Amino acid sequence: MAPVLEFPINVGRIDDVQELKKARKTEIPNRFVRDMAERPMLAATTPLPLSTSIPVIDLSKLMKGNKEEFHFEILKLSASCEEWGFFQVINHGIDLDLLEKIEKVAMEFFMLPVEEKQKYPMAPGTVQGYGQAFVFSEDQKLDWCNMFALGLVPHSIRNPKLWPTNPPTFSETVESYSKEIRKLCKDLLRFIALSLGVGGNVFEEMFGVSVQAMRMNYYPACPRPDLVLGLSPHSDGSALTVLQQGKGSTVGLQILKNNTWVPIQPVRNALVINIGDTIEVLTNGRYKSSEHRAVTHKEKDRLSIVTFYAPSYEIEIGPMAEMVDENNPSKYRRYNHGEYSRHYVTNKLQGKKTLDFAKISPKNSF
Ligand code: OGA
Ligand code: NI
Repeated sequence: MAPVLEFPINVGRIDDVQELKKARKTEIPNRFVRDMAERPMLAATTPLPLSTSIPVIDLSKLMKGNKEEFHFEILKLSASCEEWGFFQVINHGIDLDLLEKIEKVAMEFFMLPVEEKQKYPMAPGTVQGYGQAFVFSEDQKLDWCNMFALGLVPHSIRNPKLWPTNPPTFSETVESYSKEIRKLCKDLLRFIALSLGVGGNVFEEMFGVSVQAMRMNYYPACPRPDLVLGLSPHSDGSALTVLQQGKGSTVGLQILKNNTWVPIQPVRNALVINIGDTIEVLTNGRYKSSEHRAVTHKEKDRLSIVTFYAPSYEIEIGPMAEMVDENNPSKYRRYNHGEYSRHYVTNKLQGKKTLDFAKISPKNSF
């Protein structure tokens, strides 16, 4: 995956949260207990009217709908990307058996004894393997989450030592799944381009061989969900992210909208899509990468399988000419995408702060 830190860092002790759960202690280790301002106010995130749910896009209407259906769905897509930076996609054409299979191997992996999983360790400051990513210091708070991440495309970002041999079908399932998700990302980017009124191939032509990585997040139940976070608030550094929620998954993913954390209600067989920082920059802020986080549940574990799709590290990124005019001056500078990826993976998750890297006049970087 993207280049790593060159200096040794001390991240201190990182407890494995599944092991903490097994130990059945009621007290949460201090490193997981968030400062007051960061704690999730779970009471404030229960039932919301339907209008505050993220839009659902029917991909079959974009792929093979009649003119009217296509037009309607494209308008919905553009409104979703502008107002939410998130949507769910149904009728995505990916074999539901494959979605089930990836979930099954992911679950089997996370259920292995911790010693087995730790044969694929995520080294401090890196983002592939089993462990916790984005931890850079001893005093940084930890997320209530076990992660397993792999770089997939191009092959040069792969670390074969980190590919599990158990469960035996793990690798082949990841290969088939990632091919299908790659196709989906390409289709979605084509429709996203059309929804912006630019040529459908704009992103594909610009991106070169797109970088693809995958992360499986396992959030064990937590006796004090009010004190911890499953995943710290962040926006994704990708162009597009595809998130599969485990079957029967509880609500866990939340998006920050108008200063309120809005939960994403899982929709059966749907995939959650979100706009990453790269599309925000390319569209000069018209489409936004929304800040999101994950919270935990008192009784239920939760699994998510996340794919990040981004341009090749080689390419230069900046607002597209079509998105800039007198009324919309450039909000972001031009930069090399590899440099941004490096910046992203070498900083802790902290809302949308990482994107200050690209801002012409960073608001929050003092
Ligand atoms: C991520 C992410 C949310 C979730 O992995 O970038 O936002 O619900 N995950 O797991
Ligand atoms: Ni994310």
